[in-house]
Amino acid sequence: MSRPTSEELQIFLEIATEAALAAGAVLQGYWGNLGAIAEKGRPGDLVTEADKAAEAVILDIMRRHLPSHSILAEESGQLGEKDSLYLWAIDPLDGTTNYTHQYPFFATSIGLLIAGVPQIGVIFDPFHNELFRAAKGLGATRNRRPIQVSQTTELSKSLLVTGFAYDRRETADNNYAEFCYLTHLTQGVRRSGSASLDLAHVACGRVDGYWERGLAPWDIAAGIVLVEEAGGKVTAYDDTPLSIESGRILATNGQIHASLSTELLQVPSLSVWSQQPSLR
Ligand code: IPD
Ligand code: CA
Ligand code: CA
Repeated sequence: MSRPTSEELQIFLEIATEAALAAGAVLQGYWGNLGAIAEKGRPGDLVTEADKAAEAVILDIMRRHLPSHSILAEESGQLGEKDSLYLWAIDPLDGTTNYTHQYPFFATSIGLLIAGVPQIGVIFDPFHNELFRAAKGLGATRNRRPIQVSQTTELSKSLLVTGFAYDRRETADNNYAEFCYLTHLTQGVRRSGSASLDLAHVACGRVDGYWERGLAPWDIAAGIVLVEEAGGKVTAYDDTPLSIESGRILATNGQIHASLSTELLQVPSLSVWSQQPSLR
């Protein structure tokens, strides 16, 4: 495969931007004005008219400009060949639970994997009118101005963010123990409810690190590009190369990466907190 030129990446970035802004307008239109809210399977995994309408405008724009590209979209699934050279991973509304409660933290996330590698990322937060964009080798921006990860060097001085997947009641591997342990070791751990915005906020330095499990490629494809292009690091929990299909991600400013990875691999069991609250 020949590598995409920067001109090609720039064209893909503009198309993804057009689609994310159009989806954002749809989400603003439904804000506070939702009809039926349905559960997709697991308790709490919601889908609304807004998710579907936002996805429809994105698919329309992507198909019009790039009919040969494959798409993996949260509400429509796989469209086109899975192993296609170009695969768009699309979450029309990342933060649906927040959105249904009118908690203003949600975004549209559009990422492009080229030969399996995330290379374009666009995340649009319409409530705060923040547009995050990145392309491999071309840098990362917020509202078209360059952004960088934070300079925090110590875990004890860091602010982190994480999340809990919809299967959290069905598995002991539910991130609760990690949340307690890292809350103890840092200045705090936030739980925002939008994985793509969490990654965008690592990229622009508002938080120093993010980890989560149980994610889909559409949650993280765009954010991976943003963090890497803003100077951060993205890996699996054990600091080895990330497999996007694993759904388990560690993304930081780079400086706290090794220490956060080390701590994630030695999380004490939840019972520790009732017996030994002064740990470290
Ligand atoms: C969810 C959000 C949340 C994360 C969940 C995701 P959705 O996406 O990104 O922050 O913790 O694992 O599924 O359902 O709002 O698109
Ligand atoms: Ca999502
Ligand atoms: Ca979603």
